[in-house]
Amino acid sequence: MLIGFYDILSLMASSRITDSKKEEIRDAADIVDVVSDYVKLKKAGGGFTGLCPFHNEKSPSFHVTPRLGIFKCFGCGEGGDVFNFVMKMEGVGFVEAMRTVAERYNIELPKEEQDDEFDERTQLTEGIYHALRFAGQFYHEQLNAEDEAAEARNYLGKRGLKTKTIRKWGLGFAHDRMDHLYTSAIEQGINETYLFEAGLIKYSENSQKPYDYFRGRLMFPIFNPSGKVIGFGGRIMEGLKGPKYLNSPQTKVYNKSEVMYGIHLARNEIRKHDQSILVEGYMDVISLWQSGILNVVATSGTSVTPDQMRRLRNYSQNMLMVYDADNAGQNAMIRGLDVALQADMHVRLMHLPEGEDPDSFVQQFGADSFIEYTEKESKDFISFMIAHAEESGDWEDPMSRKNVVSRILSSIARVKDAVLRETLVDHLRRLSGVGERSLLGELSAHIQEQTRELERSRQREYRQQNRESQQTSDGNEEPPFPGDATKPQKSVQPAPSRLARTKKSPAEKEIIRLMIEHGDEMIYYVGQIITHDYFEDEGLRMFYNDIIQRYNDELPISIAEYTAQDPPFPELTGEIFIEQHSISEKGNERRTTRITRDADPFATARGALKAITRLYYTRRSDEIKRLIETSDDAQRRQLYSELMKITKDKMMLERTSADELFPSLEDLIKNEA
Ligand code: CTP
Ligand code: MN
Repeated sequence: MLIGFYDILSLMASSRITDSKKEEIRDAADIVDVVSDYVKLKKAGGGFTGLCPFHNEKSPSFHVTPRLGIFKCFGCGEGGDVFNFVMKMEGVGFVEAMRTVAERYNIELPKEEQDDEFDERTQLTEGIYHALRFAGQFYHEQLNAEDEAAEARNYLGKRGLKTKTIRKWGLGFAHDRMDHLYTSAIEQGINETYLFEAGLIKYSENSQKPYDYFRGRLMFPIFNPSGKVIGFGGRIMEGLKGPKYLNSPQTKVYNKSEVMYGIHLARNEIRKHDQSILVEGYMDVISLWQSGILNVVATSGTSVTPDQMRRLRNYSQNMLMVYDADNAGQNAMIRGLDVALQADMHVRLMHLPEGEDPDSFVQQFGADSFIEYTEKESKDFISFMIAHAEESGDWEDPMSRKNVVSRILSSIARVKDAVLRETLVDHLRRLSGVGERSLLGELSAHIQEQTRELERSRQREYRQQNRESQQTSDGNEEPPFPGDATKPQKSVQPAPSRLARTKKSPAEKEIIRLMIEHGDEMIYYVGQIITHDYFEDEGLRMFYNDIIQRYNDELPISIAEYTAQDPPFPELTGEIFIEQHSISEKGNERRTTRITRDADPFATARGALKAITRLYYTRRSDEIKRLIETSDDAQRRQLYSELMKITKDKMMLERTSADELFPSLEDLIKNEA
């Protein structure tokens, strides 16, 4: 990985961090350990391999070599040392990456220079982390120091939390005052922009005055896997009005749909036990942890998402879900189960005694009872659902039993692994007494329905995006969508479809054509070299995503398949293939070139990939130039550095032939082995 202009700047500015310090941190850091926060690594020879976190891939081309302290992905080319990894993964500059690693290995760094200097030279992400770190400390100090916080301290004591636990989890207290955090942070020289971008303050609608986002709440800092504060959950203090929990808004560093609360303390334990325990609440995680059960995480303020499951799977594929033993909790658990199964997790479920949650259970009965209970009561999801039906009486009545079986099959349908699916069906057959043929018949109906639903939601998403860009682009009304009756129709004449109207780059169409025509190897090849960002045309970008998704899901990919899909696929497919046809009919010369080019489809692909890459670079540098005009100093420096890199890459591109520019399929595969 190249060190950019910005990194050099920040290195110069941070000359206090000496080279020997850097070496010390690098030596202390275990790159396998750091990378393992994000990637499930497998031992391979003298090193480790795994699925690259920087691009989408099905088989591992990402390598870590501990002896040299480096990582390298042979798929996308990313590589470097432990600092480069953190920079790339957390979107921070060199200094912040070094700080992250140093903190993790308890190495002391010289204190930051003046904060205003810090603000000036660091990028937005670092400013946000800085503000969050400040807020975490601030809330924590408030909890311990102030008389007024006695009520909060008492409450935590009543909930059975020990001082050590409170410290370990960095719990805090936000007073019920308008701008307590805001004024203290400003006094400490923290830039207001960063407070806002960190989701710590808001602006009042009338006066535009800043005020604190969290007020009158017990504060639970939320950490990323390497232990940086990325957001907060705030529990309302008794007697105050407002939602029970308030979580940080979505920010540049806090993405609700990815975050697992407690992961920084649980990750190694999850690996050790080869199982995670998923609970609902912050208090559940903390109480279990305090009792000595350490492999516990919770979602934070969302239902279970695919991204959360993907992250959790890095540590272990096995998960035990223990939600609150009330209706809401049990329903949420069953919904989460489907998401987890779809993400290839192996799930067990447990029902606590009525009315309990993991927190109340372990506080009353202790960790040993909890573990004993787990061993006796946790069940695979099929047995769990049947036991649940038995309790409610639904298993007795044949009609409701049929519904239960069908519901279980719809969960089994989400399992991608065919062997596992069959094992599960067999298990269900034994428990339900329903014959295999009926079970398999209904299972495949569920699979088809789910595939259709997936397609529909992808198309909805596409049309939604299309609609948005349409409204802001040229003022032309788009054609109405069926069922979209509320939308006023301005033009009387039907407007031509946007898809047909936009001019698509021939290279983009060519790549899609090659992927459909040449199947798996070509899809793999293209997928290793570009991402969907490289497509300028939205329709083709969506098409590309759909092909990659189908490839990953092992669904059929062919002209016939796409012609039979719902719009816009047939139209796009026609455009891609018919035009190709008419070009080749224009003359023999054309036809000959096309035929010879396709004699080696991968060479054709490299030509098209080069053209797409060139267009992408041009678009991106235009975009950066536009952004530079409206950005502040810190952002501008970063943008310049990206611009320099793209300009360099573009020159390189022009100087190199397509065949030299991109590896061959064989090379890609070889590098993986
Ligand atoms: N939650 C939320 N917003 C709410 C309610 C709940 O984000 N308005 C999330 C929080 O992450 C919370 C979890 O759902 O931790 C579980 O909710 P609940 O069971 O109500 O809270 P507990 O964690 O059990 O808190 P307590 O024990 O203090 O009641
Ligand atoms: Mn609860």
